[in-house]
Amino acid sequence: MHIRTPKDWELPESAATSESLYHLSKRRDFLKTLGVTAVAIAARDAFGAAAPFQTKPNPAYRDPALKPTGYDYITSYNNFYEFGTDKAEPKDLANRGWKTDPWTVEVTGLVNTPLKLDIKDIVEKVGGIEQRVYRFRCVEAWSMVIPWDGFQLSKLLMLADPKPAAKFVKFTTFLDKKAAPGQADGNLDYPYVEGLRVDEAMNELSFIATGIYGKAIPNQNGAPLRLVTPWKYGFKNIKSIVKIELTEKQPRGTWEAMQAREYGFYANVNPQVDHPRWTQASERVIGGGFGGRQKTLMFNGYEKQVAALYQGMDLRKFY
Ligand code: MTE
Repeated sequence: MHIRTPKDWELPESAATSESLYHLSKRRDFLKTLGVTAVAIAARDAFGAAAPFQTKPNPAYRDPALKPTGYDYITSYNNFYEFGTDKAEPKDLANRGWKTDPWTVEVTGLVNTPLKLDIKDIVEKVGGIEQRVYRFRCVEAWSMVIPWDGFQLSKLLMLADPKPAAKFVKFTTFLDKKAAPGQADGNLDYPYVEGLRVDEAMNELSFIATGIYGKAIPNQNGAPLRLVTPWKYGFKNIKSIVKIELTEKQPRGTWEAMQAREYGFYANVNPQVDHPRWTQASERVIGGGFGGRQKTLMFNGYEKQVAALYQGMDLRKFY
C-alpha cells in the first residue's frame, strides 16, 4: 500500500454521495416493522452485475449513531490490486468483462463435510441474507461506514463441520491473469491469501458480504463474495473468494508475506500501535469533508465483541 497524494477527484466532498439507496433500505426497515417481507430492490446494478439476493436489516448490527458512507464513495475508492494499485482503477478495470456469475466456492481442508457450491446454493444453505452496518478501517488510516448484505461466516463453516484439529481458516482469491491486469503484471504475489484463527472466524462479527446497500456487491468491492472482519484492518477483508480451507498451521497473508513488519497476521485496529510509517491514532473519514478526521477506536469500536479473543496477548507483539 504505497503512499501517494490524493487525486483531484477525491477532494470535493460536495461532488458525490447519492444516498438514495440507503434511504430505500431504511424504508425496508419500516416495511419490516409492518410485517412486510423485504424485497430486493433492483434486478441489475449499474454495472450489469448479478441480481442481488433478498436482504433484510439486522437491527442488532445497526448503530443509529453511525452514518453510512455514500454508495458512490464505497464503490469508487477501492483497494483491489488485481485490478490496479490506484484507488480509482478497480471500478473501471474490474468491469471490463470479468465474470463473477456463476461462481463456485470450495470449503475444504480439516473438515468432515467438504463443500463445493455455487454462491446461490451457499446463500440458500446458510438461510439467506441480512444487512449489517459496520465500520471499515483501512490500514492506510482512512475509514468508511458500510451497509453490507451477507451472512455470518460461522454459518458456512458449520456446514462444513470443522475437525477439532482445525486451528486456522485460510481464504484464497481467484486467479485469472487474463481478466485481472494486476495479476498479469504481478504487482503482488497472487492469488491473494488471508487468514483468521478459527475462533476469530467463528466470532459473531465475521461476515461474508454478497451485497452493499441492498445491491449485489460490485466487482470492484469483491464480487460475488468477500470477507468482512470490521475490527481488523481492511486488508484482512479478502475479496472474491474461491477457497476457504481449514488448517492446523497459521496461514501467511499476502501483505504479511510481502512486509511482515508492517502488516501482521492479526491486523487488529489499534490506535496505540502505529504503523512503522504513520500513526494509527486517527483516521480520515471518506466523504467526511475537508479536515474530516476522527479518533480511531480500539478494535475499531468492537471491543465488546472481540476483546476476549485476545486476552493475555501482547498486542504490540501480535499486531
Ligand atoms: N482482496 C483482494 N483479493 N485483493 C486486494 O487487493 N485489498 C484489501 C482488501 N481485500 C484487496 C483485497 C485492502 S488493502 C482493503 S483496504 C480492502 O480490500 C478494500 O475494500 P474496498 O475496496 O471494498 O473498500
